[in-house]
Amino acid sequence: MKRLLAAALAVTALSGFAQGYPGSKPISIVVPFAAGGPTDRVARDLAEAMRKTMGGGANFVVENVGGAGGTIGATKVARAAPDGHTLMLFHIGMASTPALYRKLQYKPLEDFEYLGLVNEVPMTLIGKPQLPANTYRDFEAYIRANSGKLNLAHAGLGSASHICGLMWQHAIKLNDAMTTIPFGGTAPAMNALVGGQVDVMCDQTTNTTGQIEGGRVKAFAVTTPKALSGHKLLKDYPSLQEMGLKDFNLTIWHGLYAPKGTPPAVLTQLNTAMKAALKDPAFIKKQEGLGAVVVTDKRMEPEAHKAFVAGEIAKLKPVIEAAGKFAD
Ligand code: MLT
Repeated sequence: MKRLLAAALAVTALSGFAQGYPGSKPISIVVPFAAGGPTDRVARDLAEAMRKTMGGGANFVVENVGGAGGTIGATKVARAAPDGHTLMLFHIGMASTPALYRKLQYKPLEDFEYLGLVNEVPMTLIGKPQLPANTYRDFEAYIRANSGKLNLAHAGLGSASHICGLMWQHAIKLNDAMTTIPFGGTAPAMNALVGGQVDVMCDQTTNTTGQIEGGRVKAFAVTTPKALSGHKLLKDYPSLQEMGLKDFNLTIWHGLYAPKGTPPAVLTQLNTAMKAALKDPAFIKKQEGLGAVVVTDKRMEPEAHKAFVAGEIAKLKPVIEAAGKFAD
């Protein structure tokens, strides 16, 4: 019997796949923001693609755990059982929150297994439909003329929308120009913007493209160095750099994570399935339609993903500390 077990383990080790994983127990992908937002959208599309690349036997469920810029959900995953049944899709907040939260309940580079980088997403600066401006220059002039009277929505300290708002206010040197209003994610924030309850937001194209196309919000600029000339809708908006905000460059990225200590064979199986999902034409089409770019380089691999995040933590720290002077 022992020889049989040893042989089975050897096969497992060689195949890099975990015998019996995932079994009938669902695989939860924790999204640390409210349902319906950009992070949630990527997670659901990725889960659908990975269900296929794991042979249809894997039952993925997306679990929304919002609050505190994504750190509540990330803390839950850091403390979850490392059995391959709890994963997390988190974005640039993995790298921004160490600079913003003095008492972060987890260590980004030590408490997680890195499963690979999934995509990169531009952001758009948008306003409520009633905002009396149609170009970026009119928009910025209106913000200046109404300093102290307007508000900017975001998804919590350290969220992509929060970082973008900080960096943008810093770049135009508008000290305390806007009150910032946090939400559990940019899905509820978008509802408030469309309804005119808040004035401005910077959000990912995966969440804004449909609203812009539907005329439910006004768009003014994108956060990438150059305009998104390849996108049928977003190509019409200038980049903030083109509008004179020197060196403004913000692209959001999403990575897949598991709790530290998840078995290597399970990690290999998940990374293999994720990489196959990133090559799925249906997944790519969905992402590109929303302005996102699916990762095709070595950052799909765990080591390069982790090195990338470590670099982002170092890059964002001074940017956030400088911009933080302008936070309300
Ligand atoms: C963010 O601003 O960090 C995200 O858009 C939050 C979300 O996915 O809802």
